[in-house]
Amino acid sequence: MSFRLRRSALYVPGSNQRALAKAAGLAADALILDLEDAVLPGAKPAARDQVLEALAAPPGRQERVVRVNGLDTAWGADDLRALARSGADALLLPKIDDADMVEAAGSLLEASGAPDDLALWVMAETPGGVLDIRQIAAASRRLAVIVMGTNDLARALRMPAAATLDGLETARSLCVLAARAEGLDILDGVFGDLEDAAGLRASCQQGRRLGFDGKTLIHPSQIPVANEMFGVSAEEAALATEIIAAWEAAAREGSGVAVVRGRMVEQLHADEARRLLALHQATTEEK
Ligand code: COA
Ligand code: MG
Repeated sequence: MSFRLRRSALYVPGSNQRALAKAAGLAADALILDLEDAVLPGAKPAARDQVLEALAAPPGRQERVVRVNGLDTAWGADDLRALARSGADALLLPKIDDADMVEAAGSLLEASGAPDDLALWVMAETPGGVLDIRQIAAASRRLAVIVMGTNDLARALRMPAAATLDGLETARSLCVLAARAEGLDILDGVFGDLEDAAGLRASCQQGRRLGFDGKTLIHPSQIPVANEMFGVSAEEAALATEIIAAWEAAAREGSGVAVVRGRMVEQLHADEARRLLALHQATTEEK
C-alpha cells in the first residue's frame, strides 16, 4: 500500500521570511509556500525569490508545495516557469474553474522542463470549479491532491464570514467524491479562529467524517491537533488488527462475515482496517 501522510498542510506566506525559516522545522506533513492570497501584489516577485531560496535547501520529511498565482494574473506564468525545476514536490493551482485551466498549467510545465514527478495540486474554491470537480480531477496525470479553499468558496456563495465550515458540506462532499473517483487525496479548508482550540478540533473531526485525508492550516499551533485528528490512534489501530484477524478467521471457515465487538465485519471493513494500520505504521515510524 503506497500513500503519503497528509494529515496537516501548513500555509506559509512566501513573503514572510521568518515564517519560511521556521516552517522547515515544524511537524506538518506538508508545507504550502504561498505566493497567492497571502502575498500582496507589490510583494509577489520578492516572495517568489524567497520561496525559490527556501526550496534550494535540502528537503526533509515534509512535502514541499508552492501555491502559485493563477495563469490569468500578471504573475502566474512566471511562477510556473520559475518553479518548474525548483525542487518543489508539487505546485498548487488556485481558483481552478475547469479542466482547461489545469491542462494549460500542465502544458506550460512541460515546456518549462518540469520533471515527471512534479505533482499538481488544485484548489476547489470557486462555484464552477466545485461543479466541474470530477473533470478537473481527471485533467492531468500530474494531479495528486485537491485542496478545499473554503474562504473563497464561502465568499463566492455569499455566505456570512465565519470560522466554521458550516453550509459547505455539500460542496466538500462533492469534492471528496471526485477525489476518490479519480484516486486523489483531498485536504479540507482552514479553520480561521486561532484562539478556538475546541473549534479547531471539532472542525478536524467533521472533516475526517466527510472523508478528508487531512486539513490545511494557517498557524503552527494547529499542527498537533490536525496530526492527531487525521492520524490513527493506538485504539483505532488495535480495533483494526482485531477486525483483520476476525475476518481472516471467518474466511478460513468459508464465511465472508464476522462479528467484532458486536458489529458486522465484511471484506470491505478488513480492507479499510488494513489502510488504517498502514497509516498508523507510517505515523509511528516517523517518531
Ligand atoms: N507558517 C510558519 N510559521 C508561522 C506561521 C505560518 N503559517 N504563522 C506564524 N508563524 C510563526 C511566526 O513567524 C512566529 O515565529 P517566531 O516564533 O520565529 O517569531 C511564530 O510562528 C508565532 O507566530 P504568532 O506571533 O503567533 O503569529 P503571527 O501574528 O506572526 O501570525 C498569521 C499570524 C495569521 C498572520 C500567520 O499565522 C499567517 O500568516 N498564517 C498564514 C496565512 C496564510 O498563508 N493565508 C493564506 C491561506 S488561507
Ligand atoms: Mg484563496
